[in-house]
Amino acid sequence: MRRQSLADVDWAGKTALVRVDFNVPMEGDSITDDTRIRAALPTVEYLLGQGAKVILMSHLGRPKGEPNAKYSLRPVADHLQKLLPDRVVRFAEDCVGAGAEAAARALEPGQVLLLENLRFHPEEERNDAGFAQQLAALGDVYVNDAFGTAHRAHASTAGVAAHLPAVAGFLMEKELRVMGDALANPTRPFVAIIGGAKVSDKMGVLKNLLPKVDTLLIGGGMANTFLAAQGYALADSLVEQDTIDLAKGLLEQATRSGCRLLLPVDLVFADRFAPDAPHQVCRLNQLPDHGMALDIGPETAALYGGEIRRAHTVVWNGPMGVFEMPTFAAGTVAVARAVAEVDGVTIVGGGDSVAAVEQAGLADRMTHISTGGGASLEFLEGKRLPGVEALAPKEGA
Ligand code: 3PG
Repeated sequence: MRRQSLADVDWAGKTALVRVDFNVPMEGDSITDDTRIRAALPTVEYLLGQGAKVILMSHLGRPKGEPNAKYSLRPVADHLQKLLPDRVVRFAEDCVGAGAEAAARALEPGQVLLLENLRFHPEEERNDAGFAQQLAALGDVYVNDAFGTAHRAHASTAGVAAHLPAVAGFLMEKELRVMGDALANPTRPFVAIIGGAKVSDKMGVLKNLLPKVDTLLIGGGMANTFLAAQGYALADSLVEQDTIDLAKGLLEQATRSGCRLLLPVDLVFADRFAPDAPHQVCRLNQLPDHGMALDIGPETAALYGGEIRRAHTVVWNGPMGVFEMPTFAAGTVAVARAVAEVDGVTIVGGGDSVAAVEQAGLADRMTHISTGGGASLEFLEGKRLPGVEALAPKEGA
């Protein structure tokens, strides 16, 4: 049986209890990036158009199970009202209890109610059954549109689905479809670009992708550990000594499975970790005995760019260097440009690589930018996501 979707429900007059991921970056009361809020609009607008009452619930940050004004979702409700100028958007100061229940009862078809941060209650992260039941009592049908939080087994992402008919929202469906199709039936060549600081963070992703992709391009700090595994001395660069053997194992696995695993052929070496640090491009046979690698070099960028442009499916997770510092952003920007030119499916996941693509003004040139950081990583690792599992059709339903 397939997972149910929004179109499987007759929404007129019903209350949709929708888990969204409005965990957006904030500075004070201002939202600095509203991508996740806009990504939920197709679901919200569809439900409103079908005559449903829409109750939205989300977490924001990690307030450690107690109310904290810094993590209030009220500014998000104000922002949502601006994005939905023709709709009534209300805000409830708690996600459960008498206030939330009264606000839910007062809601009319075509109106929206955003509940206060779920994580103001420790029961949310504990996936407490009573708390899940209290949430469920607010609605008639549960919708999970929070792909970004699907890797958490919390009351609002997993527990609540036991008490109500449960369906996936449009964003959840799109994320699962685009990434799922790319992994299961890629148009080849299929190239994965994996970067970021540590191999240990991406070990699961590398293991899962190796047998699936034609070419794996490694960049960022994690490339150092692979180069160390090949015997290069990288001076003061970030190298995970206790992961070198695992990196060796991955290199062997790549050879066995016929995947081309490419490592940088040159690196940008800086005297210290600072935006204004003196730096130089070094080939692998001329690595200096001091300083640290902070970006891939131009030869590597050109090599990787060529591989990427030839691909018809690309998955990218993690930057090629310390792109937050303009001096060390060139490798990541070159990769972003190459991905933007691909004739095929391009998927970018992970907070840093998404930020890099946005910084380079190339976001609208990608097929799909995942709203999930940790969730997209776990999806690429091939793990089951509790928020998705909870949407599996129930026995006897
Ligand atoms: C995210 O930003 O990755 C999600 O909203 C999950 O947040 P969490 O890591 O605090 O659970």
